[in-house]
Amino acid sequence: MNITIQLLYLFSSVLFIIGIKMMNKTKDARAGNLLSSVGMLIAIIATLMQIEVISMVEIFICIIIGSLIGLYYAYKVEMTQIPEMVALFNGFGGLASVAVAISDYWLKSQITVANIDIIILVSIILSVFIGGITFTGSMVAFLKLNGRITGSPITFKGQHPLNLVMLISFILASVATWMNPSDINFMIVLVLISLLLGILTVIPIGGADMPVVISLLNSYSGMAACTTGFILNNNVLIVAGALVGASGIILTQIMCKAMNRSLVNVLLGGFGQTVAGEQTEGPSIIVKEVGVEEAAMLFDGASSVIVVPGYGMAVAQAQHVIRELMEQCEKRNISFKFAIHPVAGRMPGHMNVLLAEANISYDKLIEMDEINNEFSNTDLVFIVGANDVVNPAAETNPQSPIFGMPILNAYKARTIIVSKRSMGKGYAGVENELFGYPNCLMLFGDAKQTIAKVVSEIKEL
Ligand code: TAP
Repeated sequence: MNITIQLLYLFSSVLFIIGIKMMNKTKDARAGNLLSSVGMLIAIIATLMQIEVISMVEIFICIIIGSLIGLYYAYKVEMTQIPEMVALFNGFGGLASVAVAISDYWLKSQITVANIDIIILVSIILSVFIGGITFTGSMVAFLKLNGRITGSPITFKGQHPLNLVMLISFILASVATWMNPSDINFMIVLVLISLLLGILTVIPIGGADMPVVISLLNSYSGMAACTTGFILNNNVLIVAGALVGASGIILTQIMCKAMNRSLVNVLLGGFGQTVAGEQTEGPSIIVKEVGVEEAAMLFDGASSVIVVPGYGMAVAQAQHVIRELMEQCEKRNISFKFAIHPVAGRMPGHMNVLLAEANISYDKLIEMDEINNEFSNTDLVFIVGANDVVNPAAETNPQSPIFGMPILNAYKARTIIVSKRSMGKGYAGVENELFGYPNCLMLFGDAKQTIAKVVSEIKEL
């Protein structure tokens, strides 16, 4: 029996690894996801085969309740709320790890007594530490993202020394737990410190850095699951946790690079404070407006078009009308491509997912490094609900909080049309001087509605 279970675990671990590898390429990603899900199903079945403490009926009741809640939220959640949902998932993963660690500690220290194996004790302590930080840190990130607490950094004097004191206290309490394993009070102290550390480490981080934090917390939730795997002596949990932990940290690095921020810089926080100061000042920009008819003529007269999609495209759900626009342009032999910035939108791959949903083929989506040289030879750049990712201040203004963030060089094109509702700022809360450039025209209005009008005008030309 045990060997069968271990083999099933091994098989599901292999499926996880192949599945993740397939997610490297957009065209295989869906199949990779399916393969990993099959791996997870096998791992669940193997785990159910060794149930001891509670009955199958109880487990199935829990599965049904959990699945119904999951299904309800999966249907209800808006595309723009996915980062919040990911934050919640990470948090619950961390909480589960803490719960398993505490129950195992309770079982070994209070019920079966005897000495707890040092490896198990270290795993329990790590699980409580990482899981606790992940839980409360993710809850703070969730509340910041949905605006229930301010997205600006919350800082106070002595914040970093306080974190250091907490960390040292955690180490001392860990030693005390090791010396007195049956004294539950030290374990309570460990749990409380880790929960508090999660809050203290995420509150100073500004809204603009939240995507990095979410990805880092995702990595933590994987590491917490991995340590829980050691506690339960469960190989598949160790492998799956390590995969989530490693992929999360790689994604964190990629995002830090895309925003030109170091991880230490993000974690020390305070980024959004400069941003808030910036919002009140700055010269007002004088812009030129364009109407739908004139915009249609500009498309008709162009030989090359690059679309820069951003968060506003997601809000307006404009991807389908953009596909219609692409079809009209291609009928007229106009080259039509999409420039994808790594942090456009509100989650990694946000633009790719939306454009794929509108059946726009992947080979039209060109990554930033590859397309940046093409803007200067492009007739028309159409910016749809993007703002920060095309803000030249990132290159030209050392005072700007986004200075140093790589941008799409849209400003180099012959003509630029920007589709947005108003002069509203982007996520980083800064003015975009591009909108005042001589080659830039503003097409005001909701992206979906205005683009639909442009498409019908083009059809009549
Ligand atoms: P943003 O800079 O956030 O700008 C989006 C623009 O869309 C706004 O200026 C807004 O202007 C416009 N907009 C909103 N609703 C619209 C609608 N219905 N129709 C047309 N326009 C609309 O977007 P971006 O350029 O994609 O940059 C992303 C930002 O988010 C970066 O700062 C990035 O660091 C941050 N961020 C990224 C992620 C990831 S991982 N992608 C996660 C969190 C945060 P109006 O109000 O005037 O319409």
